[in-house]
Amino acid sequence: MHAPHPIGVYDSGVGGLSVLRAIRDALPREHLLYLADSAHVPYGEKTQETVQQRALAIADYFVSRRAKAMVVACNTATAAAIALLRARHPDLVIIGVEPAIKPAAHLTRSGVVGVFATTGTLASPKFAALVQREAPEIRILFRPCPEWVLQVERGEIDGPAAARVVAPPVRELLAQGADALVLGCTHFPFLHDAIQAEAGASVPLLETGGPVARRLRHQLQERGLLATDGAGSVTLETTGDAATLGRMAAQLLGLPAEAAQTPARWR
Ligand code: DGL
Repeated sequence: MHAPHPIGVYDSGVGGLSVLRAIRDALPREHLLYLADSAHVPYGEKTQETVQQRALAIADYFVSRRAKAMVVACNTATAAAIALLRARHPDLVIIGVEPAIKPAAHLTRSGVVGVFATTGTLASPKFAALVQREAPEIRILFRPCPEWVLQVERGEIDGPAAARVVAPPVRELLAQGADALVLGCTHFPFLHDAIQAEAGASVPLLETGGPVARRLRHQLQERGLLATDGAGSVTLETTGDAATLGRMAAQLLGLPAEAAQTPARWR
């Protein structure tokens, strides 16, 4: 493995682009290979075994592309499969994402924190352990929002349609006393403005793209794998429809739409 090799980043669909955005900003010299597993979206309602199987297949694919690191840009897949991935690929830098419980626990004044995530994340033992470890004194309200994942996949991230879909869960958790809200799914930062409008400007919304990028930088640096010269790049791939991913990447990140492709093995 060498510094110029790519970093594989994946999610069930376009949600992980919110993490890719943070990585690209923090590490502009890196070559990023984004895989949207769109043929299998959403992960949040699938069994743990299915999500694990997808993670292992995608890790093998990244290794075949000579990736030096893998970012699991999905809370659901991290909860289900990160331990398995690390056991299978001990030499690969593997970074996962977790809901930002710790900063939310520091920010809350009411002592009540709301967490929006997928059903899979909220039901996982890894999430239960995170809450126990980082916020034992805090009342945590969980709210699965599978409909938000689909909303982002359709690209309807603003306007009345987005406002309508975010309103009920946000109102529900605020009514129960939450004064800090955790966006515990990588799709949700794309609904940030709609959620903030509903919650009010004083309610902090916590996401994890920035911390993930910093952890990645740190681990690459430690192993002497950080790219130090030249311009980086973004390659977009999907197990589903390339035109859809291209359109979404253009809409969400301003990347060139025509760049997205479905590799032969998934066509
Ligand atoms: N973006 C993912 C997450 O962070 C998965 C959403 C889904 O596919 O259900 O959990």
